[in-house]
Amino acid sequence: MALTLAFDVYGTLIDTHGLVEQLRQLVGSNARSLSETWREKQLEYTFRRGLMDDYLPFSECTRAALEYACAKHNATLTPNQKADLMALYGKLPAFSDVDAGLSALDRDEFRPYAFSNGTESAVRGLMLSSGLDRHFVDMVSVADLKTFKPNPKVYQYFLQRSGGQRENSWLISSNPFDVIGALRFGMKAVWVKRTSSAIFDDWAFDGQRIEPTLIVESLTNLGARISAESRH
Ligand code: 2OP
Repeated sequence: MALTLAFDVYGTLIDTHGLVEQLRQLVGSNARSLSETWREKQLEYTFRRGLMDDYLPFSECTRAALEYACAKHNATLTPNQKADLMALYGKLPAFSDVDAGLSALDRDEFRPYAFSNGTESAVRGLMLSSGLDRHFVDMVSVADLKTFKPNPKVYQYFLQRSGGQRENSWLISSNPFDVIGALRFGMKAVWVKRTSSAIFDDWAFDGQRIEPTLIVESLTNLGARISAESRH
């Protein structure tokens, strides 16, 4: 039976720091830290909006996070410059290992989906601009539920949309909170640890420490790694 794969988008397929060079033109040496604050705050806003049950689309969290990041790093950008950055955010680049990793997935063995906090149109736009769209059976946006990862409902929704079963469905994500959310829900999960300094949270449920089902450094051999693990 084919395994269903849910690929997280922002931070896993798509590099959320892919605008650092453009930011450097605007804010100089603060570019990397501004980009990091932008991403951290964007995610924080999704968590807060999920907890408050006060949904706004992911792009609104991204826009508000850009405002925060500019304020924090004393970057005075014009409304047009911010609008340009938001437009570029819709065309962020893919990580260099992604196309080859997805191309290598045997379609008799795997059913790959993109699965994201982003709206379906934003995710489709990113997949088209990065040329990744051809790899996916479909794209599933949690926006349909008006909440965000890691609410357990979003993983349930993924199964409903993809027709996968918990035990045969894998989340693939660089975001530990997403990996933990999927594991907690009962899916399998791969943590994509592209940098050696990335940290997986110390997290437990029912007294058991949570570990990713698999850890990979890139998507290059993902299919082979999941196949081997599934045969255990
Ligand atoms: C995504 O859902 C969590 O940003 C990540 O694409």
